Amino acid sequence: MATTEKELTLDDLSRLFETQISAIQDLPALENLRVEWIGKKGHIPLQMRNLGKVAEAERKILGQKINEVKTKVESELDRKHKTLFAQSLNEQLEKERVDVTLPGVPLAKTCEHPVWKVQAELVKIFSNCGFVVEMGPEVEHEFFNFDALNMPKNHPARAMQDTFYIAGEKELVLRTHTSPVQIRTMLLQPPPIRMICPGRVYRSDYDPTHSPMFHQIEGLLVDQDVVMGDLKGLLDHMVKEFFGASLGVRLRPSFFPFTEPSAEVDMACVFCSGKGCKTCKQTGWIEIGGCGMVDPEVFKSVDLNPEKWSGFAFGMGLERMTMLKYGVSDLRSFFESDQRFLREFS
Ligand code: PHE
Repeated sequence: MATTEKELTLDDLSRLFETQISAIQDLPALENLRVEWIGKKGHIPLQMRNLGKVAEAERKILGQKINEVKTKVESELDRKHKTLFAQSLNEQLEKERVDVTLPGVPLAKTCEHPVWKVQAELVKIFSNCGFVVEMGPEVEHEFFNFDALNMPKNHPARAMQDTFYIAGEKELVLRTHTSPVQIRTMLLQPPPIRMICPGRVYRSDYDPTHSPMFHQIEGLLVDQDVVMGDLKGLLDHMVKEFFGASLGVRLRPSFFPFTEPSAEVDMACVFCSGKGCKTCKQTGWIEIGGCGMVDPEVFKSVDLNPEKWSGFAFGMGLERMTMLKYGVSDLRSFFESDQRFLREFS
């Protein structure tokens, strides 16, 4: 009977497929088998096409049978693909295996630069007193670096040998101090002001206690009825907090064009607690910065009424503070990137 023949043929096909697929060992061979069976000209589509020629009465039952074989072929191909794929992945992983027993390359231990560490400590001390950090550019306009700070054109600090000018830009300098940030802040916000500005500054200097680039921290307070005692009290507090010891501060009369009166800030020598030693040249005092009451001329240059407002400012060298805290004798060692030196601070 025709039906039986067709059934047999499909059974044969099914068996043939089983033999073939069980012999397949790798993915490329499986792909060939897939094309051979369910590709456009494959056995299954061919059966489907032939279905049209079969008498209508048999078509349904034969169609079902073909579909059964088709489903079986597809699912077998799929299953085999999964197995072979996993197998080839494992083989690949096996081949590319990393030898974890090899000793690793140790990563160098890093640490914060001592000057940054000190900067962060000082920022914290002043922040606790209500001072806000302000920043300014390192390439600065002469107006902010000198003019607005009451430093006239003929001031010695403006000389070529002291200051780095920007080639081709007559009015731009690498800022020689952090004081221009005072001006920028006063122009941007109305008093009362309590700000600090830590940052890099540049001067044409190079010896054991000077480097062409160094760091300062600037402080400015503007309010009503500010007196020099407020300034002294703040500096006293800072030294005590920073050095963790009761080392006195004294203000020694000095001159800065942007403060009046002006003073050098000295602190009792950290090495001899003020008794006198080689480092403090037997004076018992060490200079750490400059300060003073904001000069009325500075207030005028930022359009603040000096009759109404008063304030103080101070500036300190961060390298100097670091040298005193950690007993470093040559300032240049901060910038030589000698790992042995830097690791001392980790
Ligand atoms: N800008 C001064 C300097 O670099 C320090 C200073 C700051 C002095 C603020 C007085 C007030 O030498």
